[in-house]
Amino acid sequence: MRTVDDSPLYSADFFADQDPWAYLNELRTESPVSLHRRADGYEFYALTTYEDVRDAYIDHVNLSSSYGTMIDGSFIPQEDTASGRMLIVADEPAHGRIKKPVKQSGFNRGMIESIGRTVSRNIATSLNGLSVGDHIDFTTHVAPELPKGVLEVLFGVGPADAAELLQATRTMIGYRDANYSGAAPLDSLVDAQQEILDFIDDLIGQRQRTGDDSDMIGFLASCVSRGEMTRDVALLNGLNVAVGGNETTPHTASLSIHTIDAHPDEWSKVTSGEADLDLATEEFLRWTSTNTYVQRLSLNEVSFGEATIPPRSFVTLWNMAANRDPDVFDRPDEFVIDRPHNRQIAFGAGVHRCIGAPVATLEIKMFLDALRSWDKEFAVLEPPRRLRSNFMLGFTELQVEVIPARKS
Ligand code: HEM
Repeated sequence: MRTVDDSPLYSADFFADQDPWAYLNELRTESPVSLHRRADGYEFYALTTYEDVRDAYIDHVNLSSSYGTMIDGSFIPQEDTASGRMLIVADEPAHGRIKKPVKQSGFNRGMIESIGRTVSRNIATSLNGLSVGDHIDFTTHVAPELPKGVLEVLFGVGPADAAELLQATRTMIGYRDANYSGAAPLDSLVDAQQEILDFIDDLIGQRQRTGDDSDMIGFLASCVSRGEMTRDVALLNGLNVAVGGNETTPHTASLSIHTIDAHPDEWSKVTSGEADLDLATEEFLRWTSTNTYVQRLSLNEVSFGEATIPPRSFVTLWNMAANRDPDVFDRPDEFVIDRPHNRQIAFGAGVHRCIGAPVATLEIKMFLDALRSWDKEFAVLEPPRRLRSNFMLGFTELQVEVIPARKS
């Protein structure tokens, strides 16, 4: 097993300025399980094959989420402060107890349909406001419309409040990128987190007073009122859903615009009706792999192929590497818009598989649908500014020009 000192996988700059895909491809081929060390003593194992990543997701008994799912989440193996109380950092059985009311209230069929309609309306309004010749930064003009629609429905707030919440979650996740956080990243992380918690706390209070439980926050507030959930659990999971929903799909949308620009022939298969929109959506999710990895802590010895990982080790599951595994995907490094039998693993697997996956998939599908029926399109003007993060792939700036749609 390869050991890498001063690994680039720690480095946000590496992900912004170099080619992490090539690095992970090389790791998958040469040392599918590897150990990454930093001079200050932090170390983690990296899984890069589809099979190992999927197996690790499914093994939630030996691989715990309670110690933080991001590198550096906890420097030494100690439980995350929200451990056992927030979905993403809870193990069973606490995780299952929290997931049930969140899923029931936020991710049922009616809610998902309502989110689809709201997101569709927001995207249409945004695109219809653009004229041929306009130059815009796609990341700030159109991309935020996707999560805004989700927040409007799940949190029962208006577009202005949704936009404010979106800004705070952006700072929280992108805090290592000076574009979002300014000069003092850790201060801005703490401030942003507090702002979101205050916002959600106010909403819970309001819903408890009115008794309106028609949206997710209202339902969680009613669980608090009935004594079925503590207020901090309602708060932390409102935060988890807001962050999960806000800091993913806008990046996927921006990366998708860049992909369309780079692969006009593939995209023309969608505009001509030759390629199915559901298949295209899956391929955009595989190709963009917005959430690069998640982390676990091994509670017991675990094995992947010939590699053995000792107890109390951090293990990282590289979604982006799994999504380009040649054992699972034919021509993995090519963007094939009508790829059949796409088993992309961008949303993870097992009990923690993204609760928002149906929502995110619908958002991206609605977005692609709006683009294909638009009488204009975006032409990328200059290389985008990539987000400085090893956890999320995305852009902080994508300058585009609005041009008439090219006929397919
Ligand atoms: C392209 C978009 C998205 C991607 C790539 C993505 C990716 C992921 C991944 C890989 C996980 C598993 C984490 C783990 O196993 O530790 C996850 C969990 C989660 N996601 Fe997403 N996500 C997306 C969109 C969303 C949306 C739209 C929402 C909410 C509206 C959301 C909310 C969550 C939540 C609450 C969890 C925790 C689930 C649990 O631990 O049970 N995500 N997401």
